[in-house]
Amino acid sequence: MDALTPESNTYQASAGARVIQFTDCHLGPVESETLLGLNTDQSLEDVLQLIQRKEPHIDQLVCTGDVASEGNTEGYLRFHKLVRRYFKQPLAWLPGNHDSAEIMSVSAKSLGIEPRLVTAGNWLIVMLDSSVPGQVYGHLEASELDYLSYVLRHNHDNKPVMLCLHHQPVNVGSEWIDQYIVKNAAALFDLVGQFSQVKIISWGHVHQEFVGKRNNIDLFATPSTCVQFKAQCKKFTVDTLMPGYRWFQLNPDGSFSTGVNRVTDKSYVIDYKSAGY
Ligand SMILES: [Fe+2]
Repeated sequence: MDALTPESNTYQASAGARVIQFTDCHLGPVESETLLGLNTDQSLEDVLQLIQRKEPHIDQLVCTGDVASEGNTEGYLRFHKLVRRYFKQPLAWLPGNHDSAEIMSVSAKSLGIEPRLVTAGNWLIVMLDSSVPGQVYGHLEASELDYLSYVLRHNHDNKPVMLCLHHQPVNVGSEWIDQYIVKNAAALFDLVGQFSQVKIISWGHVHQEFVGKRNNIDLFATPSTCVQFKAQCKKFTVDTLMPGYRWFQLNPDGSFSTGVNRVTDKSYVIDYKSAGY
C-alpha cells in the first residue's frame, strides 16, 4: 500500500509487498506435453495471463515446485522463458517431488532466478527444499532446518517471515496425498514455534486450495497451474476446478491478506476418470 506524505504531496512506496505464488506447473520435456490430457504449457500460460490481468502491481513471484514433470532441463528453460514473456519481477523457485533439485540449482544461476532468501517489502521469504530424490513424500534435511534456524536467529530487525516449500507440513484431509506429507514436519514446527516472526507457511504439491492454522502460523496450499485434485478425498480424484494462483498482500506491520484466483475463460479436455498421475 502506498502512503501519502503531507510535505511532498506525493506517494511513497511503503514496506508492504504483493507476492504471487504459483505452483505445480508440471512442464514436460516438450511443449506438447500433457498431464491427464491437459497441455501444461498452455495452462501455465493461461494462469500467467490471468495474473497479468488481475495484478497491476507485483513485487515478487514464487513458484513452489513441480516446475517440470520429470526434472528435465528443457522444462525449466521453457518455464523461465514463459514467465519472462509476461513478467520482469524477481522470481524464486524451489523443487518438488517431480523436479531435479540439482538441475534447478544449476539452471537458477544461468537464468538469474532469485536465491532462496528473498526480501519482499520488509518481509523475508524463505524458500525451503522438502524434496527427497526418488520419493513422492517430503522431508526437510538437517541442513535445511539449520539454514532456516540461522535465518530466524539473525533476523535482528524482526522482519515478518513467510516460508515456502513444496510438500504440505500438515494433513490437508485427503488420505491418498497425506501419505506424502513432510515426514519430519514436527521438527519444522518445533523450530518455527520459537520465532513469533514466522507468520505464513505456504506450499504446493496437493493441487488444491487449503487454509489452516498452527501455533499462530497461517497455513496455505495453492492450486496448481494445471490439473486440480479434489479436496477431502480418500482416493486420488481429479477435480473440475480450474487452474489458478494465490496472491499475498504482505503489510508492513506483519499482517497480511491472501486469496486465490482461477482461470475462468478457458475450457480444457481433462481425463477426470484417471486413477492416478
Ligand atoms: Fe504436483
